[in-house]
Amino acid sequence: MKGNTIDEIKEVLLNRFGFIPVFYFLTVLYGNVEYPGPYREIEKELVLLYHMVSGESGKDMHKVMPYATFYDLYKRFWITNYSESNKKVKQDLNGMFSSPHIRILASLINNPDGLKNVTLFIDGHDSKIKYYKPSESHSLLYSYKLKGPAVRTQVIQDMNEIITHVSISEKCVVGNDGTMFIQMKLYKKISEADCLGMDGGYNLFIQKFKDNATDAGYGFYNRNFLHPIRKEPGQKLTLNETHFYNKFGSFHSSTEAQFSMLGSKFERFNNNRAALQISDIKYYNI
Ligand SMILES: *[C@@H]1O[C@H](CO)[C@@H](O)[C@H](O)[C@H]1NC(C)=O
Ligand SMILES: *[C@@H]1O[C@H](CO)[C@@H](O)[C@H](O)[C@H]1NC(C)=O
Ligand SMILES: *[C@@H]1O[C@H](CO)[C@@H](O)[C@H](O)[C@H]1NC(C)=O
Ligand SMILES: *[C@@H]1O[C@H](CO)[C@@H](O)[C@H](O)[C@H]1NC(C)=O
Repeated sequence: MKGNTIDEIKEVLLNRFGFIPVFYFLTVLYGNVEYPGPYREIEKELVLLYHMVSGESGKDMHKVMPYATFYDLYKRFWITNYSESNKKVKQDLNGMFSSPHIRILASLINNPDGLKNVTLFIDGHDSKIKYYKPSESHSLLYSYKLKGPAVRTQVIQDMNEIITHVSISEKCVVGNDGTMFIQMKLYKKISEADCLGMDGGYNLFIQKFKDNATDAGYGFYNRNFLHPIRKEPGQKLTLNETHFYNKFGSFHSSTEAQFSMLGSKFERFNNNRAALQISDIKYYNI
């Protein structure tokens, strides 16, 4: 590889992640197969990871290896092996660091009084993209939050701030929080002992969730969901309700930090940077 770029790459990766995440990427996601490019496998793997971390475009990887070689590598890893990697990533998010027992114990330790039941939070996250697929309309991508083209993804995390489930990503105009929540079929993925914290955008969909769960043979009840009280306009919240509302709000917003953390580790997914160019939302979603 060109010059001593690989040494610089190793240093960046070590500083950002330490050893374990890089080791996981190398041994589990990349695996032990041969990828295109006349370089050592381990160095190609590091370049793929560096691409996400640096936020530089594929063309910028020219400083390491010719663009055509990088592109073949990129394509083989993210596109050709999409279904296998996607399956593995989902399975490991769900099972490596979180289980119903861990979640319940973490909630008892970490949650404020009165909110000890909440084991998971669901949130919709908008990510800025520059989407290049000429056949598709850009207007469906508009995000009011980000004032530009973006995709929305539902993210579930537990009280140890472990992200356990991620929905598919939808164009922002199409992807409504409530309907995306229904489509995730979470009743198959979370436990009947879990309690899902959510904001007001979701609570109108709880009944539908429970019905779908019942049809599929699961039992979810109101105690599996917690959301702020909603009143008709003009109706005042009682003192207790206001107290709960504020408490829930500040508890919930503490989970937002997760996304700025993700953005600071992976410049490619940082909404403050120049928007990301992708060929297909599903590859972005992995
Ligand atoms: C595809 O991904 C799986 C799991 O992430 C990995 O074990 C495997 O080595 C990859 N296979 C190929 C052919 O790239
Ligand atoms: C939920 O149930 C409705 C019918 O009540 C059905 O149309 C819909 O496809 C179901 N959704 C899921 C995600 O199972
Ligand atoms: C918390 O869980 C207990 C036991 O399952 C239940 O009785 C109670 O209603 C739940 N409280 C809330 C606020 O969901
Ligand atoms: C308000 O909260 C207090 C203490 O948490 C409780 O004793 C009281 O019954 C609550 N009042 C109402 C109207 O729910």
